[in-house]
Amino acid sequence: MAKPKYTTHLGMVDILPDESPKWRALEQIIHEEARRFNFEEIRTPIMEQTELIVRGVGQLTDIVSKEIFAFEKGDSHYVLRPELTAPVVRAFVEHHMEQRGGSQKLYYIGPMFRAEKPQKGRQRQFHQFGVEVFGSDDAVADVECIAFMIRIYKRIGIQNFELLLNSVGDPESRENYKKALTDYLQPHYDRLSDLSKNRFEKNPMRILDSKEPEDQDIIKDAPVILDYLNEETEAHFEKVKAMLDTLGIQYTIDPHLVRGMDYYTRTAFELKSPDLGSQDALAGGGRYDLLVEDIGGPSTPAVGFAAGMERLMIACEELDIHLAEPKKVDVYFITLGEDARKWALKQLSAVRNEGLSATMDYMGRSMKAQMKDADRENASYTVIVGSNELEEGKFTLRNMKESEEEMLSLTDIINKLKKLA
Ligand code: HAM
Repeated sequence: MAKPKYTTHLGMVDILPDESPKWRALEQIIHEEARRFNFEEIRTPIMEQTELIVRGVGQLTDIVSKEIFAFEKGDSHYVLRPELTAPVVRAFVEHHMEQRGGSQKLYYIGPMFRAEKPQKGRQRQFHQFGVEVFGSDDAVADVECIAFMIRIYKRIGIQNFELLLNSVGDPESRENYKKALTDYLQPHYDRLSDLSKNRFEKNPMRILDSKEPEDQDIIKDAPVILDYLNEETEAHFEKVKAMLDTLGIQYTIDPHLVRGMDYYTRTAFELKSPDLGSQDALAGGGRYDLLVEDIGGPSTPAVGFAAGMERLMIACEELDIHLAEPKKVDVYFITLGEDARKWALKQLSAVRNEGLSATMDYMGRSMKAQMKDADRENASYTVIVGSNELEEGKFTLRNMKESEEEMLSLTDIINKLKKLA
């Protein structure tokens, strides 16, 4: 009988040992830059209450209406988190984090889940890093989020991107704009795509995001929200732009930029890369000044962004950027016979105690096979241990790159390697 064959679910990907060092390297960069920005890490559960995501992200959004993985157990409704803004807001409210004082500057790294049609740069389980800043109404907060985001890409060597910027207004500006937009779209309604017809009633601003060819001509001449901002929202947007100018961060105003979640107010932005193909958004974010209150917390302005880590990896591949060094081990003990194996097994920890990495053969292989294995493991040094060596207390230390050998005691070997580490 044929054995069953198991695979990952569609759009869910294993990160194998050859790949994981670059993930760790990227995570390390994010942690380091977050420390420099004085952002604190938050880790929340993978699953949230369905109701939170529906309320937070928006009932009519694609994410909630089509893409969430949801299930029930007993009386509870679970959803695999499709993003982290709503969960982080939940945590902020649940733990009264405003009581910690000042603005809360949080960052995260982790997996998200969306039941989208997989393609290059689009998975069903994918990873984001992101930032959420609570408590500041000031454009400084918006600009610090953008500066953090850009700094990560620049540090890695990804320079080829475009920052798109818009203001999606506050509720008052948006009501005025929605009216102007539907007045404009009404006479063109019959020519709109089915998707846009559907959005017309529910959320006409999302029509501006349509990729359907038949909508493009209509969208092109639509009124833009930037002409409908009230004084306060306009002033905030001007401040954001002025501060970006001060920092020398280039941007393109895109009045048609509407993001895929309902919570945004005022600033909205996206980072796009020409190196990514059709899924070209590296990262996106914006303000969501009403969400904390919507979720039951005190009125608290907030802003943040999230970046797709798989897309960042794809950009690295395109640009031939290597985030991690090839794997290596400092010392490989080559053992001949059972006594040598036992002795080496014990010495591994002496070497490891010095902060060096050490391994040995686990399979009882011949010396030639062990040498080959040390090469495959990219060992910097091998220590050859046989019965003679054990008797004399001196071992052959072989520098694998230089093909040089010397006879040394284990203490001398460790001292020598310590200096090189
Ligand atoms: P988002 O635009 O939905 O925003 O996602 C941010 C980034 O996650 C995207 O630009 C993209 O790089 C990546 N991404 C999204 N979906 C997928 C997918 N299926 N496969 C691979 N990568 C993907 C948010 O999630 C908001 N929570 C951002 C935010 C934070 N706004 C305010 N604070």
